[in-house]
Amino acid sequence: MPAVEDIVLAPDTRLRTECAPIDEIDDSVRALAAHMLEDMYATDGCGLAAPQVGELVQLVVIDVDYGKSKRNPYVLINPKIIVADGEERETGEGCLSFPGITVRVSRPSHVVVEARNLDGDLMRYEAKDNLMAVCLQHEIDHLHGVTMVDHLRPLQRARKMREYEDALAAGARPGDVDVED
Ligand code: NI
Repeated sequence: MPAVEDIVLAPDTRLRTECAPIDEIDDSVRALAAHMLEDMYATDGCGLAAPQVGELVQLVVIDVDYGKSKRNPYVLINPKIIVADGEERETGEGCLSFPGITVRVSRPSHVVVEARNLDGDLMRYEAKDNLMAVCLQHEIDHLHGVTMVDHLRPLQRARKMREYEDALAAGARPGDVDVED
């Protein structure tokens, strides 16, 4: 299936579901990670969470160096935010599950995340004031049924959802963002 057709689009209920932790890192988990990385690169995303390809497990892939010639992929299994602090920062975020819109979301500027990698090692990631800090929080939200629009106030969310519906109706595809916002 071409990558863009693989992506679960809002308002699919799978994007609203608490995902299950992964008990064992087996071939199916390795295959899922490879498949998600492929989809992420094919759609020019910098991150993708398993529920966005319809798998309700706690796995995300991230590459904030996307677009550069050298790939630098991270696979995070059962990631947990253990610190989220620092000044709140507002950033324009896009999401492959909401083609055509960009949303200004305010999040803590510093995070520390613990996750297993594909070898089962417990890794710690720290990010401050950069795309990685935003991306970690955005993708981990997905594992708990939370999407970027959930961070908006109700009126703003309703406006963005209308904008999203219009974009979809106009043919927006995963990876399309609104450059004006
Ligand atoms: Ni997303």
